[in-house]
Amino acid sequence: MALFKAMFFALVALFTSYASAVAPLVVKGADFVNSIDDTRFQIIGVAYQPGGSSGFNPGSGIDPLSDASVCLRDAVLMQRLGVNAIRVYNLDPDLDHTDCANIFNAAGIYMILDVNSPLPNQSLNRGAPWESYSSDYMQRVFKVVQDFMVFNNTLGFFSGNEVINEDSVPEVPAYIRAVTRDMKDYISAQSPRAIPVGYSAADVRPLLMGTFNFMSCGLSNETSSKIDFFGLNSYSWCGDATFQSSGYDVLVSDFSNTTIPIFFSEYGCNNVSPRIFSEVGTLYGPKMTPVFSGGLIYEYSEEPNNYGLVNLNDNGTVSILVDYDNLRKQYDDLDVGLLEKANATATSLTPPNCATSLLSGANFTKSFDLPARPDGVDDLIKKGVDGTSSTSNEAVTDTKPNQTVYATNGQEISGLQLNVLEWDQSNLPGNNTSGTTPSSPSGSTTSSGSSPSKTNAAPRVDDVKFGSLLMGAVGAGIYLQL
Ligand SMILES: *[C@@H]1O[C@H](CO)[C@@H](O)[C@H](O)[C@H]1NC(C)=O
Ligand SMILES: *[C@@H]1O[C@H](CO)[C@@H](O)[C@H](O)[C@H]1NC(C)=O
Ligand SMILES: *[C@@H]1O[C@H](CO)[C@@H](O)[C@H](O)[C@H]1NC(C)=O
Ligand SMILES: *[C@@H]1O[C@H](CO)[C@@H](O)[C@H](O)[C@H]1NC(C)=O
Ligand SMILES: *[C@@H]1O[C@H](CO)[C@@H](O)[C@H](O)[C@H]1NC(C)=O
Ligand SMILES: *[C@@H]1O[C@H](CO)[C@@H](O)[C@H](O)[C@H]1NC(C)=O
Ligand SMILES: *[C@@H]1O[C@H](CO)[C@@H](O)[C@H](O)[C@H]1NC(C)=O
Ligand SMILES: *[C@@H]1O[C@H](CO)[C@@H](O)[C@H](O)[C@H]1NC(C)=O
Ligand SMILES: *[C@@H]1O[C@H](CO)[C@@H](O)[C@H](O)[C@H]1NC(C)=O
Ligand SMILES: *[C@@H]1O[C@H](CO)[C@@H](O)[C@H](O)[C@H]1NC(C)=O
Repeated sequence: MALFKAMFFALVALFTSYASAVAPLVVKGADFVNSIDDTRFQIIGVAYQPGGSSGFNPGSGIDPLSDASVCLRDAVLMQRLGVNAIRVYNLDPDLDHTDCANIFNAAGIYMILDVNSPLPNQSLNRGAPWESYSSDYMQRVFKVVQDFMVFNNTLGFFSGNEVINEDSVPEVPAYIRAVTRDMKDYISAQSPRAIPVGYSAADVRPLLMGTFNFMSCGLSNETSSKIDFFGLNSYSWCGDATFQSSGYDVLVSDFSNTTIPIFFSEYGCNNVSPRIFSEVGTLYGPKMTPVFSGGLIYEYSEEPNNYGLVNLNDNGTVSILVDYDNLRKQYDDLDVGLLEKANATATSLTPPNCATSLLSGANFTKSFDLPARPDGVDDLIKKGVDGTSSTSNEAVTDTKPNQTVYATNGQEISGLQLNVLEWDQSNLPGNNTSGTTPSSPSGSTTSSGSSPSKTNAAPRVDDVKFGSLLMGAVGAGIYLQL
């Protein structure tokens, strides 16, 4: 039986391999690296949470990666935009994510997945983490891992998002390392391949380096608790800022000794609207690529906080917003050939040993004693939890979205189609685009005074009073980790 099954899957693999698209990525030193050809990978991504975090409702039978026709529509528009990765925050592990994973895989788009949700008991409580770190909570976390670890286009998991901030108690960092440890132990025991696990931090500068150091230092008595990559939600480049005025220069210098990959797990300040995304050229340019591995723009769909690239209309159609065209123009100007060819530089780096001297300035417990696993978690790791997805990526047959998409000039875009990539390809700006309008929009309105259509958008959040350090919380965190 086992042999038959193995042969069956081998045959399936044989006949569908033409559509297998992206190769698994691995972490080598401070880089993401393609496991097949060893080239370095830069994340050119968008956050993907249609409906917003507050719209997450497992009872509805829908999450962002469960409806194939929606995923096809959005994957095609993202392929056209030029992205190679999405981040998805809130997933219902009881839904089947196979079709959507396959569609994004065929489009050459990797997935970075958060394992938490804003629902009660589905994330660490920053005020009392010991109350939320339970076997029930870890079962949910493992189910998300189980659902997605089978796909080659799963880039990694976030064990937490912005759990540490001004309101978190000093014990929180140790709990995040404990959850990271349990996830990595689960992956070692159950996953067909090693998938990295990271943490996504709020840009609260006084706590930032303490957080980074706490999570990424080496603990010889708890080796699996170290994060494999670090995401920073940063909204400090607003409008036509510069490397210096945005403080990106400080980030590059602060993180210059990193031993793991670093990227913006959210970026794209919207204080100035429409956004012109002038940070893109700098992020993927020579000043930042030695330290950063790209980033994810917040966010694909227009929601009440007004960060959208497209408007998902109630009638199922999509209206492209000016921000989409502006971002696409910035991506098109990148020297992707150069990005693509860049080889991994650091193949093996030794993290600094954990020591309280690394935590100066941060109000964390000055100890690296991690909480023990709650009862039952060892068993979940040993025996595995039930997943709902298929066992690997499969070929995609349907490539034409059936929804109408409107360009910024209001004209319908025709001929939109998924370009199914070949093995070991991922999407790049300017590659594999589809769709035309009777008279093509210019695609660049960088200084236009018009603002994005707000068809379905509620009044925007008043960002101004929060100050730029807290923009990450405005962007997503307050909806995600209440
Ligand atoms: C996944 O990647 C492995 C290489 O690590 C490859 O052998 C396999 O065919 C890929 N699977 C699919 C479905 O693309
Ligand atoms: C959350 O967990 C606590 C402690 O295990 C439990 O008392 C409570 O009922 C749970 N809440 C929900 C909504 O499941
Ligand atoms: C550290 O955190 C604790 C608990 O939240 C708080 O009582 C204390 O005032 C904080 N100390 C500093 C220096 O921020
Ligand atoms: C990086 O390492 C060098 C050499 O050990 C050290 O001089 C420098 O202070 C470090 N920089 C940071 C930001 O930690
Ligand atoms: C769908 O809704 C959008 C936005 O309200 C509108 O512009 C468009 O005309 C509608 N399309 C159809 C086919 O009803
Ligand atoms: C994709 O983009 C790369 C880099 O610009 C280029 O070398 C390659 O020819 C493009 N491929 C296609 C199919 O357009
Ligand atoms: C990258 O590495 C490959 C294989 O080692 C080598 O052939 C190629 O020249 C390198 N490319 C660059 C840009 O360094
Ligand atoms: C593990 O090592 C760290 C750093 O040396 C130390 O603070 C901690 O107490 C150790 N934990 C245990 C359980 O020994
Ligand atoms: C597109 O196709 C899906 C699945 O076949 C269907 O559920 C949906 O209603 C269709 N949407 C439109 C706009 O025709
Ligand atoms: C991109 O699309 C073109 C035209 O549809 C196709 O020929 C090409 O193979 C695709 N590129 C990649 C890298 O798959």
